[in-house]
Amino acid sequence: MASSEGEATRLPPFPLGWYAVGFSSEFARGTVQTRTLGGRELLIARTESGKLSAMDPICPHLGAHMGHGGTVVGESVRCPFHGFRFGTDGACVATGYDTKPPKVSVATKVVHESCGVVLVFLDPRGGPPTFTLPALDDSSYSPLRTKYYRLRGHPQDTTENSVDFGHLSIVHGYSHVQMRSDLELDGPALRARYSMHHPFGLARGSRGLNAEFEVTVRGLGHSMVDIKIPTLGLEARTFVFATPRAEMDLELRIALAVKRLAASQGLHPLLAWVSRAKVLTQLVETIYLRQAFAALANDVEQDFVIWKHKQYVSRPALAQGDGPIARYRRWAEQFYPALAAEG
Ligand code: FES
Ligand SMILES: [Fe+2]
Repeated sequence: MASSEGEATRLPPFPLGWYAVGFSSEFARGTVQTRTLGGRELLIARTESGKLSAMDPICPHLGAHMGHGGTVVGESVRCPFHGFRFGTDGACVATGYDTKPPKVSVATKVVHESCGVVLVFLDPRGGPPTFTLPALDDSSYSPLRTKYYRLRGHPQDTTENSVDFGHLSIVHGYSHVQMRSDLELDGPALRARYSMHHPFGLARGSRGLNAEFEVTVRGLGHSMVDIKIPTLGLEARTFVFATPRAEMDLELRIALAVKRLAASQGLHPLLAWVSRAKVLTQLVETIYLRQAFAALANDVEQDFVIWKHKQYVSRPALAQGDGPIARYRRWAEQFYPALAAEG
């Protein structure tokens, strides 16, 4: 039944795309862990050589859950019940009795690891990835500072924030918000550029600063924001990863890295002077990382009370001053292939 303007409806719970299942530091070599994605559990294993795999945790032999007592043996995962082993492609490679393994596999999902985060491609129909993520170069950035949240929400809804310019001043207190170019839609990628005055400064009691944001969204689970503070010449890169565990049960991982002073262009003269001394450089980078991350976490947490209680209004009563919400939603339809097939 078609909804009327302003009426709440429901989005399909699991749009296809790449979703974070953890930060790289959570997956040590030789360990096996369980995560939940799209309403199902997933075993994430890192082999002795460092290769990551994501597979169904239920052993096809007699049904043990390999997330509870499973171990990594070389390049395979060993089931705790009878010692059957499975390679990173899911194929059974050994039994626990030195006998010929049965021709059987556990289902696997494709894993992508870049910039310190591990993502898995989810397609509720079980299909292969329909798009790839770039291997981002993080060599000129500090290590990531990260935080994990679990909340009620849907990835399309939380990612819509990137283009919801109206709420930036109302919820986050930004001022002078300006789009710096038209929204770019390129297949599964979306890019928006805007500038504003951010109320959060780099020192206690400061009056905030002007910043430029370039937001790149890839699918509904992977948002990256390159931030510039033109007056200081400082840059940072933030990530927001929205992962649907189950229907309206969302994991949100945020991360931020600051660009090394040595790699930054157009530094404020004082910072350029600081960057000549290693100790001072480390001090400035540490303070900048801490403050910029605090600003990011503060921004994200300000949205929580809205997300916790909001409904999805499929035909919103939009007004001048809103961002390109309608274009974003048309772009997002590509991540629901079942809907497209229904016409
Ligand atoms: S149930 Fe896994 S080896 Fe038997
Ligand atoms: Fe927001």
